[in-house]
Amino acid sequence: MRIRVLGAAAGGGYPQWNCNHPNSRRARQSDPAAPPRTQSSIAVSASGKDWCLFNASPDLRQQINDNDILHPEKGLRHSPIMGVVLTNADVDHVAGLLNLRESQPLRIHATQRVLDVLAANSIFNVLNPAFVSREPMHLDKPLELLKPDGDPMNIRITPFAVPGKVALWLEDESKGDNFGSVDEDTIALHVEDTSNGKSFYYMPACAKMTTELSARIAGAELIFFDGTLWVDDEMIRDGVGVKTGRRMGHLSVSGEDGALAALKNLGIKRKIFIHINTTNPILLQNSEERKLIEDAGWEVSHDGMEIEL
Ligand code: MLT
Ligand code: MN
Repeated sequence: MRIRVLGAAAGGGYPQWNCNHPNSRRARQSDPAAPPRTQSSIAVSASGKDWCLFNASPDLRQQINDNDILHPEKGLRHSPIMGVVLTNADVDHVAGLLNLRESQPLRIHATQRVLDVLAANSIFNVLNPAFVSREPMHLDKPLELLKPDGDPMNIRITPFAVPGKVALWLEDESKGDNFGSVDEDTIALHVEDTSNGKSFYYMPACAKMTTELSARIAGAELIFFDGTLWVDDEMIRDGVGVKTGRRMGHLSVSGEDGALAALKNLGIKRKIFIHINTTNPILLQNSEERKLIEDAGWEVSHDGMEIEL
């Protein structure tokens, strides 16, 4: 199975359009230690020919142009993209669907909750319903991905709920502390290549590590994990925002309850951060924080990173 990171940054990308934080300035100045990153998405293929996207970022047009594996190959209209699996309804994960207009056959997989969000926004009908199917996936039910013509992709996904929050733009303050969030709002995926049995976990958002979750991912070959913030109050501390990571549905990389500590003794062979916010110092190749996570056995994903399992 091939995994290509199309985008490694969190919502807004790195640098974010209106961000003048020192991290963003370094990326704009083409500092070699601060390469820019587009918004989070990966592409997965068992054959190396047909690909499924995991989330569709607003940068998808650029990501397709930057990755020749996703270029059309046959005839006048073609795409190696067979489908898209959505892990939540964040802008950074669904807005890219609009790039996939109009009459290209595709399968979109999401929880019913996220499919309802798409259905409520008629702009998504630019993906011609005659060609693009929308198929519900169910928590803890394995699903074999198919190409639009029904042939198998030899990839099996199993979605499962992770602690999280409804997308920012769908928050309902009248519904209390969790803004009306339900289990189907934030999922992660176990992704298996059915031809060689290899598998990995994709978890670009996670608000908290639970006993159940750590038991599930223990011993995994590979995990892509939420790397949004270094510390919970980073955006407040750096003067660029008013929200904590917790408030946004992301656990931090550092700290007692952070990802480094939570995934430390789980025997996971390869651990990679993805969905990294523009303020996070692990973006910088020469930062103390980058050294710290690398010493702890973690990697930071970057656009174009490829992994073979
Ligand atoms: C998030 O991951 O918390 C969201 O993508 C934030 C946003 O919508 O900007
Ligand atoms: Mn996001």
